[in-house]
Amino acid sequence: MPPIFEPVRELLEGSLDGAVILDRDRRILYYNQAYEALSRVRGRELAHRVAAGARCYEIFPLDVCESACVGCRARDAKRAIRVDEIRAKRRDGEDLTFIVAAAPVGDDYIVETYRDVTAELRIQRRLKVLLERERQAKVDLEARVEERTRELRQAQAQLVLQDKMSTLGRLVAGMAHELNNPVNFVYGNVDFLAQYVDDLLTLVRTADQFAALPPALRAELDAIKQRIEFDYLVEDSHKLLNSIRNGAERIAAIVRDLKNFSRTGAGDMVETDVIAGIETTLNLISPLHRGRIAIERDYEPGLPKLVANAGHINQVFMNILTNAAQAIRGTGTIRIAVARGEADGIPVLRVAISDTGEGIPPEVRERITDPFFTTKGVGEGTGLGLWITDSIVRAHGGTLTCESQLGVGSTFSVTLPLRPSGDQAGEYGAAV
Ligand SMILES: Nc1ncnc2c1ncn2[C@@H]1O[C@H](COP(=O)(O)OP(=O)(O)O)[C@@H](O)[C@H]1O
Ligand SMILES: [Mg+2]
Repeated sequence: MPPIFEPVRELLEGSLDGAVILDRDRRILYYNQAYEALSRVRGRELAHRVAAGARCYEIFPLDVCESACVGCRARDAKRAIRVDEIRAKRRDGEDLTFIVAAAPVGDDYIVETYRDVTAELRIQRRLKVLLERERQAKVDLEARVEERTRELRQAQAQLVLQDKMSTLGRLVAGMAHELNNPVNFVYGNVDFLAQYVDDLLTLVRTADQFAALPPALRAELDAIKQRIEFDYLVEDSHKLLNSIRNGAERIAAIVRDLKNFSRTGAGDMVETDVIAGIETTLNLISPLHRGRIAIERDYEPGLPKLVANAGHINQVFMNILTNAAQAIRGTGTIRIAVARGEADGIPVLRVAISDTGEGIPPEVRERITDPFFTTKGVGEGTGLGLWITDSIVRAHGGTLTCESQLGVGSTFSVTLPLRPSGDQAGEYGAAV
């Protein structure tokens, strides 16, 4: 090696980068310790091969040695060149990345250095992945917090509602119980009263027909008969007693319906007659439809009973039927169809309630099951009906769907499994 390289050699000796001095043909004239470590050729063997005139690309074959040797480019361009991130595969198959720098020295020599940045890059890449993961985790966390907040808000609304419903249920049940006794006095005694009145009338008539009454008594009797309009009284008392009987019967029916409606406590899954539930509900809300809306029934004969929370199922019909009646301004028709069916291989009952009401615009339809969403005025709607309906139906493992056409009408379809799955039976109390 020409003496001019002595100071260069001294500089390179302690360098952390691998370094070589090459001649024009890329024979190695000098290599430093770092190069020896990089080459993974044992010291003695390396010294031997270099002494025998080994070329750099024979000792340390990198991809670029053949296609774009950095040293050759520097030599030809007569200036130093540096290439970052040269990828190379070593004989043992390991992927490496180098920073390679080369500088020509005169026309005959090249100095080349190699820095192995494989580990550094790996760390950088790993860091990038970790950072990305952390960013994603943050995004996920934010989404989860949002979701939980929404769930909490809904749960809170549900609790308020549940409380209201159970208070209402207890109130209704209490009222029904309290009304039951007085109604029974009236209803149970009206027939006796009718009988007594008839007996008294018989007595009066018999006395009246007696020919040999003293004239004073006869005159008195006639005067009284005239004053109290006896003939009218006889006729009217029968009518009165009949209407008392009818009225009492009606109150008894309402009490029965109220009891029916609030029969079950939360979580009680019992055999439930859907048709009876619908009919009871129609009776209870009759002021909303009687004389104004025709009710068409299409009940498949011989329908089985549902195992469900009867009180809650009644609320479902109450809410849908109330909405249907409210949606019809003036006169119209509500059609109720109940049939058996199958959903996902499970036997179900399908209840479809159609109205000829005003229909639901698409932007409203998206929100009808949201809690507190209502398009109605104060006193007409709370916006909780369809939300609780949807919750109840879902808690029973069923579905609630709605089709609607503006100006034509809407159909709400409820599909309920005949029996709840094990889970729903257990979780029902918690869900509603
Ligand atoms: N059958 C229907 N026809 C038209 N609109 C309906 C019908 N059922 C529900 N809606 C709409 O859905 C909204 C929410 O219904 P609901 O949850 O029962 O609350 P509310 O009846 O108290 O307003 C109603 O305000 C109404 O706009
Ligand atoms: Mg409603």
